[in-house]
Amino acid sequence: MPDGAIKKDLIFFLKEKLGFNNNQIYINPNIVLKNKEKTLIENFLKQKEEGIPLDYILNSSKFYEYEFFVDSRVLIPRPETEIIVDYVNNHFSCSINVLDAGTGSGCIGISIALQNPSFKVYGSDYSEDAIDVAFTNKNNLDVKNFSPILADWLSCFKTKCFDLIVSNPPYITEGDPHLEKLIHEPNIALVSREDGLFCIKKIVEQSTKTLKNGGTLIIEHGYQQQNDVEVIFKRNNFSKIINLKDLQLLPRITIGTLEK
Ligand SMILES: C[S@@+](CC[C@H](N)C(=O)[O-])C[C@H]1O[C@@H](n2cnc3c(N)ncnc32)[C@H](O)[C@@H]1O
Repeated sequence: MPDGAIKKDLIFFLKEKLGFNNNQIYINPNIVLKNKEKTLIENFLKQKEEGIPLDYILNSSKFYEYEFFVDSRVLIPRPETEIIVDYVNNHFSCSINVLDAGTGSGCIGISIALQNPSFKVYGSDYSEDAIDVAFTNKNNLDVKNFSPILADWLSCFKTKCFDLIVSNPPYITEGDPHLEKLIHEPNIALVSREDGLFCIKKIVEQSTKTLKNGGTLIIEHGYQQQNDVEVIFKRNNFSKIINLKDLQLLPRITIGTLEK
């Protein structure tokens, strides 16, 4: 049995994918593996050695209350992003039109749609691969009120059509050392020009046309970008600006209302 993190993931893999129980894993040392099981375990260990994240190996990621299909075409959903869904569930109730800009796997838009069946939710992405994955998740989770759309941010939508726009855009600066640990995830989902702020600026600017007056914009960003993002919001006529912190108490989500 390998050591450390690989051992923990292997045990998870044996249980989740091969249906092994604790007795087979821990107690019975002479278990005879079928050839197919042996191949699957060898492939799993090879992928772990290459540093491929467990969610990609399992093609599965838990987000909010749901299980999403993921592969290397989309970002693996992060737990801090669930804060956006919680906020929406607690602050919006009647039938509204919502856009999840840069939907990736669809995790934010689909979770909002499933939690709020009266909402009409759209998910835009510039990556055809991501839209394909978002469709897979829409179908797997049978989400009637979520529609993935191939688009450059908000460019394809009519003026003043959304009550709420949410986004977890790419916001990592080019050359950031954190990227070395994220080589298996798509660059288009991670990196943004202009100190990581280019995509955020585009979304905020385009939201002024696409949001209804009085509508809400919610954007996730890096913990060092709070002040810059607040300036971008203010410059584009957003007021009542608040910030939400992640589980490590770092400022990670900015919310504003488009003035009437
Ligand atoms: C950080 S990922 C977020 C994915 C997903 N919403 C999540 O939270 O896991 C950013 C997403 O924005 C998409 N994206 C990048 N540039 C875009 C653009 N110009 N228009 C629309 N989506 C874009 C990427 O393909 C990626 O899926």
